[in-house]
Amino acid sequence: MKAIKIKKDLFYVGVNDRTKHLFENLWPLPQGVSYNSYLLMDEKTVLFDTVEIGFSDIFFTKLDSALNGKALDYLVINHMEPDHSGSLSLLKTKYPNIEIVGNTRTADMLKGYYGITDNLKIVTDGEELVLGKHRLQFHLIPMVHWPETMATYDATDKTLFSGDAFGTFGALDGGITDTQLRPEKYWDEMVRYYSNIVGKFGSPVQKAIAKLAGIEIATICSTHGPVWTEKENISNVISLYDKLSKYEAEPGVVIAYGSMYGHTEQMAETIASELAAQGIRDIVIHNVSVSPHSNIIRDVFKYKGLIVGCPTYNNQLYPEMDALLTKLAAREIKNRYFSYFGSFTWAGAAVKRLAAFAETSGWEIIGVPAEMKQAMDQKSHEAAIALAQAMAGKLSK
Ligand code: FEO
Repeated sequence: MKAIKIKKDLFYVGVNDRTKHLFENLWPLPQGVSYNSYLLMDEKTVLFDTVEIGFSDIFFTKLDSALNGKALDYLVINHMEPDHSGSLSLLKTKYPNIEIVGNTRTADMLKGYYGITDNLKIVTDGEELVLGKHRLQFHLIPMVHWPETMATYDATDKTLFSGDAFGTFGALDGGITDTQLRPEKYWDEMVRYYSNIVGKFGSPVQKAIAKLAGIEIATICSTHGPVWTEKENISNVISLYDKLSKYEAEPGVVIAYGSMYGHTEQMAETIASELAAQGIRDIVIHNVSVSPHSNIIRDVFKYKGLIVGCPTYNNQLYPEMDALLTKLAAREIKNRYFSYFGSFTWAGAAVKRLAAFAETSGWEIIGVPAEMKQAMDQKSHEAAIALAQAMAGKLSK
């Protein structure tokens, strides 16, 4: 495998992972993921991030092919998460004189994860490093996605090495740059990546976008997914991250339900039908025991309305619903309309516990919660209809 030239002096030396089932051992990867690494060749040579340890063989083959015998002078670490730093110890072994560029927080993680404390160049926000023709500027963007994250800007070529920012799930099936592939293939996976991985950090992402707004960006080289070079795509990518980090959403509804024998599911169906009857066209129903929670979280980031419902189980929430709500709460999603429903056979707990979740969510609670005993009767049917009408009315305003 050889490095791929992206533009003058810049090579792609990243890899594709189509083997891993779960990113972070949590999030499904139906289309794989890429771990991007880039080599900039100048009087001084610079590598931007490495790759996951399992792919180091391919990575070093590509890196060696691009260097073609030249020394590797610097490694810029934009992000220390091991999907990007995993090959670092091996890199140090192969290139013992390499100088590692990062900030004080990078240094702490380098020591903790890899025992590396020497040959470090600690940079501060806005500091520059001249390589020859190319001039790098370091912009600290903490919590996008870890505290040490930074973006590095090549002021000569107007290339932004952005770390996880503007990244997406989805392997690179041949093409590396957006001119070589169909960008639309990645938009949905970008929402899923953002919501699953970066979703909690809306405010830091907003700060990063504001901070980078003053620089002219001709190319975005993130750590995951395509290299963005076309104006329209760069604008789309930044707009999508901007919108998601402001928790802005479309006027649709996600209905996430748990059901053991189909009775609670009938409530979900009833609510969905009534929403449709009220003119809501974007309705997504997820069975929490079947849909990956990753996809449900993606859709909650897309749509303004969320309705959840489940049976009582051991006097608690249905476990899969409990797990979903824990993941949603961790993302601190703002500005949603929220309704809920539940069921029980002999003692009701689901609605009570969903009410407790609603209290802490900070979302606007819409309608009256619908509760059903055992199976749907006229009363619970009417309650489900009324709840759907309340949500539709709110979304139509
Ligand atoms: Fe792709 Fe936060 O690591």
